[in-house]
Amino acid sequence: MQQREIVVSGIRPTGFLHLGNYFGAIRQYLHMQESYECYFFVADYHALTTHQDPKLLRTQVYRVLAEYLACGLDPEKATIYVQSDLPEKAELYLLLNMLAYKGELEKVPTFKEKIRGRHESINAGLLTYPVLMAADILIHRAIKVPVGKDQEPHLEMARNLASRFNQKFGFLFPEPMAFSETGELLKVPSLDGKGKMSKSENEMATIYLADSDELIRKKIARAKTDAGPSTPHSPKSPEIENLFLLLKLVSSPETVAHFEEAYDRCTIRYGELKQQLANDMIRLVAPIRQRAADLQNDVEYLKKIRKVGAEKARDSAQTTLQRARELMGIAYD
Ligand code: TYM
Repeated sequence: MQQREIVVSGIRPTGFLHLGNYFGAIRQYLHMQESYECYFFVADYHALTTHQDPKLLRTQVYRVLAEYLACGLDPEKATIYVQSDLPEKAELYLLLNMLAYKGELEKVPTFKEKIRGRHESINAGLLTYPVLMAADILIHRAIKVPVGKDQEPHLEMARNLASRFNQKFGFLFPEPMAFSETGELLKVPSLDGKGKMSKSENEMATIYLADSDELIRKKIARAKTDAGPSTPHSPKSPEIENLFLLLKLVSSPETVAHFEEAYDRCTIRYGELKQQLANDMIRLVAPIRQRAADLQNDVEYLKKIRKVGAEKARDSAQTTLQRARELMGIAYD
């Protein structure tokens, strides 16, 4: 039998999941679990780099697990686990740290962004964040990593570390690529036209998978628009471009075509567009919200998923780690 390609991806338990996480990552997980060997996890070690409240972590971890399942991830098809249940990753992270240079880590755009304007001390975990992420991916020898656009620099770092390891110690790691089924990594914009949807910032401009129908309507109603097109086929302002981008994600091609045409003919009513957008978002989010809430009440079930997932993930992790140790000379028997 031909071996299936290996896929890895994860999400940090740092807040409620949103449509950026859904369209940038989870929707692809759903397709990929059908035909690849998939490992999807909750990145709790990564969450610690920004000092999460220890009292909240457990709830946040189980919530991401519940939301994964509510979106349609299937533990029979994919291996679903929690990062810290696989300490092999921590050891591979330590080994890979020997190959990562301080200068290149300081240049990673996400690191620069995270430390901008911060005056308290910057911890080494934040600096070596991409090394831990490389360990997540390389421990399963994955080649495809479904992520949103913001993760691209981390994938570049993972490739550098893989090829450096291979050159120095012998081939072990295939070089992983950031993956999007459309061929283009996605950035789901926030509703205020400033940046992207995010777990922790800009709550009124982000649609969360746990938002109520009313809240979704309210957030969409508040989204910024402009005065409307005054000449046929005029270019769209960034705010309107964003609304159309969201419409393309949640609505049917016919609906999108209808509003594109109305825009081009200057007959568009933004109120109608927003109402349609809100309806279609609710159609997607409401069942996920309901299922996630039910699953969160069943912690015993989630615990079982966590344990079974970690056991499955450990097989592949232990084999890779053992090989990495041998190649680096950590073999004294
Ligand atoms: P995190 O938790 O910030 O986000 C999880 C996933 O959601 C995507 N995403 C978006 N995509 C499009 N538009 C947006 N507005 C948007 N916001 C978030 C992210 O690109 C990501 O795919 N470092 C990772 C977690 C991680 C990981 C890994 C991912 C740890 N180890 C190994 C892949 C492989 C992160 O912080 O994702």
